[in-house]
Amino acid sequence: MRKILCLWFVIVFITIAQNKSINQRVDSVLQLMTLEEKIGQMNQYNDDWKATGPVTVDNDKASQVRNGQLGSLLNCLGTERTRSWQTIAMQSRLKIPLLFGQDVIHGYKTTFPIPLAEACSWDLEAIELSARIAATEASAGGIHWTFAPMVDIARDPRWGRVMEGAGEDPYLGSMIATARVRGFQGKTLGAVNSVMACAKHFAAYGAAIGGRDYNSVDMSDRLLWEVYLPPFKAAVDAGIATFMNSFNDINGVPATGNSYLQRDILKGAWKFEGFVVSDWGSIGEMINHGNVKNGYEAALSAVTAGSDMDMESRNYKNHLTQLVTAKKVPMTLIDDAVRRILRKKFELGLFDDPFKYCNAEREQQELNNPDHANSAREIAAKSIVLLKNDNHLLPLSKKTKTIAFIGPLVMPLKQNKGFWDIELPGVDSNFIVSQWEGVKNKIGAGSTLLYAKGCEIEGNNKEGFPEAVKTAAKADVVILSIGERRDMSGEAKSRSDISIPGVQEELLQALLATGKPVIVLMNAGRPLVFNYTADNAPAILYTWWLGSEAGNAIADVLFGDYTPSAKLPITFPRSIGQIPIYYSHFNTGRPAHNDNNHNYNSSYTDLSIYPKYEFGYGLSYTTFQYSNLHLSKKTMARNDTIEVSVTIANTGTYAGEEIVQLYLRDKVGSIVRPVKELKDFKKIKLLPGESNTIQFIIDDEKLSFYNQQLHWGAEPGDFDIMIGASSEDIRFQESFELIQ
Ligand code: NOJ
Repeated sequence: MRKILCLWFVIVFITIAQNKSINQRVDSVLQLMTLEEKIGQMNQYNDDWKATGPVTVDNDKASQVRNGQLGSLLNCLGTERTRSWQTIAMQSRLKIPLLFGQDVIHGYKTTFPIPLAEACSWDLEAIELSARIAATEASAGGIHWTFAPMVDIARDPRWGRVMEGAGEDPYLGSMIATARVRGFQGKTLGAVNSVMACAKHFAAYGAAIGGRDYNSVDMSDRLLWEVYLPPFKAAVDAGIATFMNSFNDINGVPATGNSYLQRDILKGAWKFEGFVVSDWGSIGEMINHGNVKNGYEAALSAVTAGSDMDMESRNYKNHLTQLVTAKKVPMTLIDDAVRRILRKKFELGLFDDPFKYCNAEREQQELNNPDHANSAREIAAKSIVLLKNDNHLLPLSKKTKTIAFIGPLVMPLKQNKGFWDIELPGVDSNFIVSQWEGVKNKIGAGSTLLYAKGCEIEGNNKEGFPEAVKTAAKADVVILSIGERRDMSGEAKSRSDISIPGVQEELLQALLATGKPVIVLMNAGRPLVFNYTADNAPAILYTWWLGSEAGNAIADVLFGDYTPSAKLPITFPRSIGQIPIYYSHFNTGRPAHNDNNHNYNSSYTDLSIYPKYEFGYGLSYTTFQYSNLHLSKKTMARNDTIEVSVTIANTGTYAGEEIVQLYLRDKVGSIVRPVKELKDFKKIKLLPGESNTIQFIIDDEKLSFYNQQLHWGAEPGDFDIMIGASSEDIRFQESFELIQ
């Protein structure tokens, strides 16, 4: 104990000393800076790689860097390019290094499953590892800073960026946010294989009205604090270096100019010490919002509200000097922003060695590290959700004589990569494993794999149907790969109709008519509505976009080398008319039941209120039995805990993993409480016949919520505890009481 205490004191002492010395170094640089140089640090421009927003034409960037008028670049890839920019920065008066930022959202060269897919794994270690590898590769490629993780809660699958987050739930979202921050930032910022993470988009961007990207958000404080803010708070607690604000207005105030969000909550209540970058052009977009008259007012509003760096809009560059001279913006605000930015440059070690991340040899090594592909394959397999498996059609035998692999997504390489893939200059796409290649490599020598495209992803052309039907007729089993194109979900990719595009479901219908068993692989960046497929295909794997190892991972699952374990982190609606639909809804005064009784209750007269697939749902090749639920007590005092245990047994014939979910319901609250809220989960691996007893701890914190005055705390009374395999597949329910 003594030793641990001593060690703790030493660590605290070293941290304080390091902070002190960094602060001193920051101040010593700040003292030397002119106002123009300070404002320069607050600007970030786009470089020449693919633009991820409307570009401001500027042929003068190099001289601005030389004059110390730029703090950061984005979309600047590779050690050669970053080195050449940093060389220019080193010609500036104070030699302040540039920061290179990039959207490394689901991998750098090695592409991982899109974040929503990865969230299906509920596997925090795997998610951390994927971010770790992305950071290792990106930092080797000269990048200091990723604009990830996106921690926006999203409950509307029409919104294209639903693919980029962790789904609908604040608890799961917070755990995943923490894992991703840890993965990106590694053990310490400044390690050569770490990058700064960036929690975005602050805040509530995912609640855009109608699912339309960049749209307004109108939301109560309760919803904001209870559902949309927790993953951001988790990111702060995990030590995240930066935040990005968002395009949307919230309750009439653009997030970029929102002091309540950035000053009161983030830098005030949460004591966030990193810096905030605007979203692309979002400072200037406040003019379009109708909240400020011109760029001058936009810059004033953003800097006052706590936006430290202007991504691409040029309003800081064009107006901040004038604003400071006119005493509209106090110098202390500028100094605070610049200090925050310089501090990160020091923490990254860039003042000591500006070229630390520009090592071409390391770049080559890390971008060709075979371990990365192996990890990507494992994580991709963990992200595939088995939605349906009638009569144990899956897994397939590797000795199946003839397999027909049909559909527009069988052969493509890049489609597997998803929206935010990075096409690195000089790297071709051949390292991506197509679905065809994955399956082809898996099957035995005696098996034949046949192919037909059938149709395109979009359009009405059915000319390929006869060929596809003929191919299916020759096979013992058909695998059909359909879904969205990779650019159909993502930024600015909202869709009002989220059913399967084109004639792909008709192709399925034609194939089913052959009488052959058809396994559907559904590739998408969002929950789609696909009732025909869901009701008629005997087996469905939701494969999302799985990244560069997609083909191998799909084959691993199809042929049973990996038993699917993923569960949905977002509700799948049965109709677009149900959106928004999420599991943690209120009961209402007139709760609906699925008994076709529409007698003045909260239901639809023409549609079930239940989703097609609920939050937490996902099948396995094996079966799990839940038994022996035990609560250590039935009454709990404040600051006390209840230990909950439950035994899980693998009763099937495959080794597999189960995600055991714990939900709570506060029966009576001063503010109405949801019918259930996820409060804990555990993913356990069991061999056939094996069982394990797992424990959960219920404490005050798990029972707490924000009351009407936005005070966080638990209220005495009765609670239900539910343990299950999904939000609807509840295996045990018990009650307990919290007493004063
Ligand atoms: C706009 C997006 O909203 C943001 O997430 C991204 O990081 C920036 N563009 C930079 O590409």
